[in-house]
Amino acid sequence: MKALRIHAFGHPSQSVLENIPLAGPDPGQVSVRIEAASVNPLDLKMLAGHMQQVFPVNLPYTLGTDLAGVVEQAGPGVDRFKPGDRVVGRLEPTVGGAFAQAAVIPVQALSPMPADMSFEQAAALPTAAGTAWRALFGEGGLQAGQRVLIHAAAGGVGGFAVQFAKQAKAHVIATASARNVGLAKELGADDVIDYQHQDFSAVLREVDLVIDTIGGETLERSWQVLSATGAVVSTVDFAIQARGRRQGSFVFFNHDATTLDKILQWFKDKRLQIVLDTIHPLDDARAALEQVAAGHARGKVIVRAAR
Ligand SMILES: NC(=O)c1ccc[n+]([C@@H]2O[C@H](COP(=O)([O-])OP(=O)(O)OC[C@H]3O[C@@H](n4cnc5c(N)ncnc54)[C@H](OP(=O)(O)O)[C@@H]3O)[C@@H](O)[C@H]2O)c1
Repeated sequence: MKALRIHAFGHPSQSVLENIPLAGPDPGQVSVRIEAASVNPLDLKMLAGHMQQVFPVNLPYTLGTDLAGVVEQAGPGVDRFKPGDRVVGRLEPTVGGAFAQAAVIPVQALSPMPADMSFEQAAALPTAAGTAWRALFGEGGLQAGQRVLIHAAAGGVGGFAVQFAKQAKAHVIATASARNVGLAKELGADDVIDYQHQDFSAVLREVDLVIDTIGGETLERSWQVLSATGAVVSTVDFAIQARGRRQGSFVFFNHDATTLDKILQWFKDKRLQIVLDTIHPLDDARAALEQVAAGHARGKVIVRAAR
């Protein structure tokens, strides 16, 4: 099967499409014919070798974690899924392997796909939507009526966070560049700040929760908009700490199918928009990585497996 691998850490140009064998599923696993995978900034951090302390990998390594496809073979003792089932899930970053034509994956990392969901839509969900959910309702403890500031509303995590927060009855303030202001409003933002032309920290106060997906000086300025007991949840700054009564926490995303099942239910209930940017063929998966590396994807960038 074809797989996008690296033999050395570095840039997307170091990734190569190769033909490699795939082992059969062990007990508790299934093999999945991958139809679509989505790109996350994590894939670029894995590629660069920046995650070796957190998610150590041996080279060669096949990139990609989020996938959707069809079960081909169930391993011994597996009765939750059978060949032909459409599934979505996430491979552990230490294992990787979503940018390929097939993968072997533990059944507890998989959820059944809704009938009217495309493989591209499904692949977009696990990391981005799961992290948004966890940041808001886990570390963030979001309550109805609170004011929440969500950075990068046009991005993967931010786009889902805006929708979850709005439907949890929060007042949602989002940042986006001018071309994405309309999208952020469509997803549910009450107010949108064009971060390239306006300093959000000059116009906002009394925010209960900030979801920081940017870090650096955006995170630094985010503290200034908080209420006296407000909180910042960051997806990027693992060293964040409380400042007085203001909480600061890092969200460390761990995929669990139970949360993904809840998110899939939102889709079935027609409460969730899945914004897709470009769909790249697996043969050109490097271009998908480069697009995400540029930092301005609009929704999720997808890799479509070719056969
Ligand atoms: N800790 C964890 O477990 C965890 C889990 C998931 C993600 N993450 C991290 O969270 C970060 C975001 O992930 P993602 O998947 O959402 O990324 P993404 O989809 O690649 O984000 C791209 C978006 O960022 C927006 N953007 C860029 N600079 C901005 C700025 N200064 N202010 C506001 N928006 C800006 C762009 O919008 P415009 O084009 O409008 O500028 C674009 O839509 C990444 O660093 C990722 O590694 C961490």
